[in-house]
Amino acid sequence: MPYFNMSAEQISRAMHELIPGGNHTYSKGDDQFPGNAPKVMARAKGAYCWDVEDNEYLDWAMGNRVMSLGHANDHVDTKVFEAMRLGANFTRPGILEYELAAYLTDHWPCAEMVKFGKNGSDVVTAAVKLARAYTGRPYVLVCGSHPFFSIHDWYIGSTEMNSGTLPSERPYTLKFIYGDRGSVEAAFADYKDQIAALILEPVKNDSPYADPRPSDLTQSGMNRNGDNTGNFLQYLREKTEAEGTVLIFDEMIAAMRFGSRGAHHHYGILPDLATFGKAISNGYSCSVLAGKREIMDLGGITHDRERVFLLSQTHGSETVGLAATLATMRFYNEHNVEDHIWSIGRALKAAVTDTARAKGLSERVRIIGFEANPQILCFDESGAFSSTLNTLFHQYMIEEGVLIPWITITHAHRMAEVDRTAEALDRALTQLESAIAADAVDRLLLGPAQKPVFRKYN
Ligand SMILES: Cc1ncc(COP(=O)(O)O)c(C=O)c1O
Repeated sequence: MPYFNMSAEQISRAMHELIPGGNHTYSKGDDQFPGNAPKVMARAKGAYCWDVEDNEYLDWAMGNRVMSLGHANDHVDTKVFEAMRLGANFTRPGILEYELAAYLTDHWPCAEMVKFGKNGSDVVTAAVKLARAYTGRPYVLVCGSHPFFSIHDWYIGSTEMNSGTLPSERPYTLKFIYGDRGSVEAAFADYKDQIAALILEPVKNDSPYADPRPSDLTQSGMNRNGDNTGNFLQYLREKTEAEGTVLIFDEMIAAMRFGSRGAHHHYGILPDLATFGKAISNGYSCSVLAGKREIMDLGGITHDRERVFLLSQTHGSETVGLAATLATMRFYNEHNVEDHIWSIGRALKAAVTDTARAKGLSERVRIIGFEANPQILCFDESGAFSSTLNTLFHQYMIEEGVLIPWITITHAHRMAEVDRTAEALDRALTQLESAIAADAVDRLLLGPAQKPVFRKYN
């Protein structure tokens, strides 16, 4: 049936018949959203998106956090059209590969060399492979406090949803806890001289200073004496150096939140390798592996060491993603988007905190994390995360036309969007408060509560 004769509900059902999961990212799945969530999207512009029935939503999520400037940014799209007209992919390297490599190696302190991909998982896996080749060691120590690094088996095998991965590979992925030096020390003691790489998001919701926390920090992450003592990232830098382990920062999310130079620049700690993607290209497909020449060059063709099959992708140098990345980076820096993101985040955090307090829900609805990368979470009476209450909260926000399952602030989000969200929150939290008072949270849900992505069975 042509889709224009179908309701959104019908299209969604048909998509589940045609596509396992009904879409291409688990976190966009029906099991992650309330029953009244828009089913299928048609278009988006700036901070707004519209479903196939032309319902409008204020979008704080921005796909899987793939925007820094907003949907369909005119400047980026113009540069993309220009690149498309010059050809999408060439038989030999394209000039954009040079232009972007020169820009990024100049821009990111950790980048002596860069290699391009199309998605984050591939460059993260490439970083792990390089680290193994460089060190000749088998184990990888991954931050278990962070939810996701790659679709590839070395990582998926370490999750609850490990069906189809090789049991023999699983023991080689070890986990540590963010901010917990003991968990890092234990892994290095148990696997002495065997850990090739330690990988983490440099910063997520916790400050690198949480362990132990010096009293007088400045925004830059240094304390006022310019002393990095107490910085977990600095500790990891020193520890991995002492152990001969490659330190990898996954900057996929952190980079454009903590400035376009990345969280490693923000905190002044240089990893050996770093991975970038998502918002660097404002929705188009581009990812980057960056790092030290000595390690990166193992993937090259001019050295006399053993060759490493690093990344070799048909679409790796496709020009649209490269043009989009260059245009996004330039726009972001010329318009000081970093400061804008932090200031809108500050206003949004205040709006959520104030409204929750006014409704007597401070303990039940909280906005956590840094201003540049906040997250709204709902809790039960005991203080544990409540997926049921969270789902009902989002159901009420969607009724108000606000999509805020996760938050990706962009240049297109302005105070008007914060004000609209504050008004929506006021009405949503009034309903939520009544639902809690009437002990009716489960009953009022229009569909099942959200489930964790990484679970063994549906
Ligand atoms: C921290 C982090 N690393 C890697 C990835 C994988 O990126 P991609 O989905 O582009 O493969 C993600 C995706 O959500 C991520 O959040």
